Amino acid sequence: MIIAANLKTNLTRLQTTEYMNEIESFLKTKNINQEVLVFPAMSSLNSHVGNVIVGAQNAYGVQNGAFTGEIGKDHLDEFGINTILIGHSERRHILGETQDAVVEKFNFYKELGFKIVYCIGESLQIREAGNKIMMNYLNSQFEGIDLEYENLIVAYEPVWAIGTGLTPTLEDITTIHKELKSGFKAPLLYGGSVKVTNAKDVLALDGVDGVLVGSAALYAEHFCTMIEYAQNLEVN
Ligand code: PGA
Repeated sequence: MIIAANLKTNLTRLQTTEYMNEIESFLKTKNINQEVLVFPAMSSLNSHVGNVIVGAQNAYGVQNGAFTGEIGKDHLDEFGINTILIGHSERRHILGETQDAVVEKFNFYKELGFKIVYCIGESLQIREAGNKIMMNYLNSQFEGIDLEYENLIVAYEPVWAIGTGLTPTLEDITTIHKELKSGFKAPLLYGGSVKVTNAKDVLALDGVDGVLVGSAALYAEHFCTMIEYAQNLEVN
């Protein structure tokens, strides 16, 4: 399974290093062979040796250039990073990234062979408009995206579930994942208020290939517990 931590605008470089060390030693001690990804804040990116895959939460679709406030591929190369999160709802809704901008970024990093975790998710208003409208909306977030891309991981994260403590029911997650997965072969993660108390149930669902965790992953201990759940589910 794939267990990913999106650290967002949290943890300094020093805190991130301590965090990574804690995760690495846990993976080693427990002989974990799940795919573990961590997306630190931009200024906390660093070269990393170990089993955890470090990815960027964002980067502009350029090698380098005049794009104030952004980083480019050169800055990821410096730390050997070739994994990126694209289309996260906070970038779409707070930072105003349009589908066109998301597609441009996707294509740039796809050409370079990056592992891409591509996020989609609906707002509460769209969810309340009914299943058909919701599925159409979710599928519209795939417009321009190559779903056959071999290094693609998709994350379904309802916007209303992110950071709110609310989650869809387990039945809803199963149904939506099933419908989404009819359109592609890439692994599909669930994200949105995943925590120690619900991770085991979510990970056990059909069609859930892993989780993308925000707030609850800020505590290395909690993140490790979720990794262990995934490991136990695969072993048993
Ligand atoms: P959350 O965030 O776990 O805090 O809801 C998930 C995400 O934004 O990826």
